[in-house]
Amino acid sequence: MNSPSRLQVAIVGGGLAGTLAARVLREHHDVTIYERGKTAIEVGAAINIGPNGVKILEQLGFDRTRVGSLPVGRTLTWNKQGELKLESDMKCVEEYGADWLFNHRADLRDEFLRLATASSDDLKIGGAPATIRYGAEVVNVDVDQGVLTLASGEVITAHLVIGKSADGIKSRIRPLVVGDAALSTARPSGMSAFRFTLLAEEIKNKNGGAVPDLLDPTKSACLNMVLAFDQTNRSVVMYPCRNFEILNFVCIVPDMSLKEATSESWSAAGDREELISLFTDFPPAIVQYFKYATDIKLWQLRDQDPLPTYIKGRTVLIGDAAHPMTPHQGQGGTQAVEDAEGLRLFSEINFPSYDVAQILRDFDRVRRPRAAQIQNNTRKSIERRSAEDIYSFAKYNWTYPGIKECLRRIDAGVEMIQF
Ligand SMILES: Cc1cc2nc3c(=O)[nH]c(=O)nc-3n(C[C@H](O)[C@H](O)[C@H](O)COP(=O)(O)OP(=O)(O)OC[C@H]3O[C@@H](n4cnc5c(N)ncnc54)[C@H](O)[C@@H]3O)c2cc1C
Ligand SMILES: *[C@@H]1O[C@H](CO)[C@@H](O)[C@H](O)[C@H]1NC(C)=O
Ligand SMILES: *[C@@H]1O[C@H](CO)[C@@H](O)[C@H](O)[C@H]1NC(C)=O
Ligand SMILES: *[C@@H]1O[C@H](CO)[C@@H](O)[C@H](O)[C@H]1NC(C)=O
Repeated sequence: MNSPSRLQVAIVGGGLAGTLAARVLREHHDVTIYERGKTAIEVGAAINIGPNGVKILEQLGFDRTRVGSLPVGRTLTWNKQGELKLESDMKCVEEYGADWLFNHRADLRDEFLRLATASSDDLKIGGAPATIRYGAEVVNVDVDQGVLTLASGEVITAHLVIGKSADGIKSRIRPLVVGDAALSTARPSGMSAFRFTLLAEEIKNKNGGAVPDLLDPTKSACLNMVLAFDQTNRSVVMYPCRNFEILNFVCIVPDMSLKEATSESWSAAGDREELISLFTDFPPAIVQYFKYATDIKLWQLRDQDPLPTYIKGRTVLIGDAAHPMTPHQGQGGTQAVEDAEGLRLFSEINFPSYDVAQILRDFDRVRRPRAAQIQNNTRKSIERRSAEDIYSFAKYNWTYPGIKECLRRIDAGVEMIQF
């Protein structure tokens, strides 16, 4: 295949990573997203994006008012006896150049989809909108040649294939890129997470009309964490999203404490009585919220050792396909945002002498060590012995200067991340 000035780009999966990658690439290339789902469906839970991701989103025309994003103003960390162990006021804009945002996943995905597919006039950018094809399951990829086969039998040829995740942490493309069939799924981390959200209105009604501090829109949004600080590694994380209309919960427990082995599916149901029974030593005010929950999900948290490569031939892995990690540092989605930014390397290709493989090698030189470090830090943070431990990686997390600056630093022989 020769190298035209606009690449045909095929993105496998229309989740957070794929839609944002489409936004970056559409300015200069012809982009199609192949999404297995029949429509745009996203898990009904919250997601936080750190300043390292928000800085990038702002450069891409992200409109936080459409998302009802809440800038994080405070964090409060409690122990299971209900004692406050750490209180921090966040000054992310001053210290890191952008806010740290709480979002609802469905709202965020809608906004990424708008950035991928709205008209270029509306977005005031060049190029053409990406196309998204729903009900298009990719069943095979020739990663070297850039040939995709859909479940329908249709065959598509692309200059560049962006492979992302499937079913949370499973990935069909990962083993093809890395050359190891064992890598199609990530491994259990030993912990599982109960997830649910509550509507602010419901909480108010159950509270006799009173609005808890956590949902008070006149206060700044706060990340509340309650940690067992014992050998069980249990924790409860609560924060508001969608303009304080929703309160999001993540309750992490060891697998070994569960009645039944958990499924890795993101849609498996969790049992409320079991959740309550696993946190009887936590503050009653917290457990009270569990009693209100109606739609609880339970899934096994998985991760993976850093991969030996993200690239092969015409194909590159991004998002969870490249670096699955547990949510202990809330960096999974933010790393997908950094990956999308990395695809900027395709914005200034030098027609006709560029080489897709060379650009992908540059992508891999930055993105793989960066995400590997975050994966490793995340693994270390499963066991949290003190409140200070939890934020010990914040500076590393939040000071990513973008792919071009990272390449410059690597080539100059200096540290890629400096803080
Ligand atoms: C409930 C929840 C909360 C989280 N909270 C945070 C957080 O607070 N902060 C944070 O940074 N990260 C968080 N994460 C992690 C973050 O959401 C993920 O890292 C991120 O969604 C990864 O994006 P992705 O696009 O790679 O994968 P996904 O979002 O899993 O998208 C994969 C997409 O590919 C499609 N697909 C799969 N297989 C095929 C196929 N064969 N053909 C075509 N399409 C296919 C799927 O239908 C899906 O749409 C959270 C994750 C979950 C589930
Ligand atoms: C808690 O975390 C530590 C360190 O990762 C681990 O050794 C220990 O087994 C964990 N405890 C449980 C109950 O999973
Ligand atoms: C991450 O951990 C793996 C396995 O423990 C190790 O081989 C690798 O060097 C670490 N990578 C980084 C970037 O720290
Ligand atoms: C890393 O950043 C996330 C936000 O993206 C934050 O929640 C987390 O506490 C940070 N981790 C550490 C250890 O500082």
